[in-house]
Amino acid sequence: MPAKVVVGLQWGDEGKGRVIDYLAEEADIVIRYQGGANAGHTVWVEDERYIFHLVPSGILHPKLICLMGGGMVVDLEALLEEIDSLTTKGIEVEGRLFLSPRAHLVLPQHKDAEGSWEKRIGTTLKGIGPAYAQKYARLGVRVGDILEDGLEERLSFAGENFQGLTEKLRMVGGRIKPYLKDVEPFLNQALKEGKSLLFEGAQGTLLDIDQGTYPFVTSSHPTAGGACLGTGVGPTKINEVIGVAKAYTTRVGRGPFPTELKDDLGELLQRGGGEYGATTGRPRRCGWLDLVALKYACEVNGVDKVALTKLDVLDRASEIKFCVAYLYQGERIEGFPLNLDHCEPVYERLPGWERPTKGIREFGQLPPQAKVYLDRISSYIGVEISWVFTGPGREDVIEVG
Ligand code: IMP
Repeated sequence: MPAKVVVGLQWGDEGKGRVIDYLAEEADIVIRYQGGANAGHTVWVEDERYIFHLVPSGILHPKLICLMGGGMVVDLEALLEEIDSLTTKGIEVEGRLFLSPRAHLVLPQHKDAEGSWEKRIGTTLKGIGPAYAQKYARLGVRVGDILEDGLEERLSFAGENFQGLTEKLRMVGGRIKPYLKDVEPFLNQALKEGKSLLFEGAQGTLLDIDQGTYPFVTSSHPTAGGACLGTGVGPTKINEVIGVAKAYTTRVGRGPFPTELKDDLGELLQRGGGEYGATTGRPRRCGWLDLVALKYACEVNGVDKVALTKLDVLDRASEIKFCVAYLYQGERIEGFPLNLDHCEPVYERLPGWERPTKGIREFGQLPPQAKVYLDRISSYIGVEISWVFTGPGREDVIEVG
């Protein structure tokens, strides 16, 4: 397993954390490449739930090195809290977790400034948009800058009131210093030594600033290309892209969602799937699987294999619907449009299986209707489903042969 990227194929919350945790068995290094504490990657180990916001989900594997790339925006206090909470739970972090000095800081003003963005887009209020806006305006402050001379000047360019903040950052800097590493040369050397790398995308393709449903997106590149931009590893070094999708669709925050269910069934998915934001606690909007969007996401990421999560959440549905085209101004379209607003879903239907699939680990044990559903998905998107996840437990997975 040389270099693989794991990306979300929907609007985030596809279950990337648990897929990373599963694939991390064979990896040497796991690397987050974009976003910040807006992510909430959940992993269950027996009865213990871990939610990672900044730290890569691979940290639960004791021998792994976990890196946070320069493409991220980092709230250092939030990172220290996450480190402390892992340490309290007995997970050794020091010497295994490293952060690129190139990552940008999320500063107090970024969180303060987010009110109007939150109203319009439904953001997570973690300062993400303002931090990236400042980075691209070339007025940002990088993690490594807090240990250098000239921090005051950088903070004043950034428009921060640096009185008091400089001191605070230098103090935090003292604690964060052992965690700093030049991620780019480290990874390229690791590749030369034949180490296995697993890149962990946060959010999802439809939240990508360029490929997503703009402006209802995040401010970074969750797509596979972002792994190269955010870590300094060239595209020729990536061997495989694994896309993660739920067996239905969810979205948090505002923005178009053609297959959204605003009825009892939507609520059933919300309750059955525990669809509440891991970062903000907000209820997630739920709906049927959108194959037009999924096919588009597979294309823009160059997905080689799909991991489908939460199949068991559909166990109680008497009928399964999935979107195969949109009606836009009375016309049927099968491509992914510039704006999803006003697109009506065109559905295909299949009978539900109406029996438990939870915890099934063998493909042969799936109900025939579930197999038909999986088959229809992979034939539409043109990519094989290589794993089907059937429950939150670490072992609840089918490796499709
Ligand atoms: P921001 O990333 O906080 O700026 O939020 C932009 C949009 O992306 C909002 O609709 C958020 O709800 C959504 N979002 C950000 N991070 C995640 C995530 O990790 N999972 C799902 N949605 C997210």
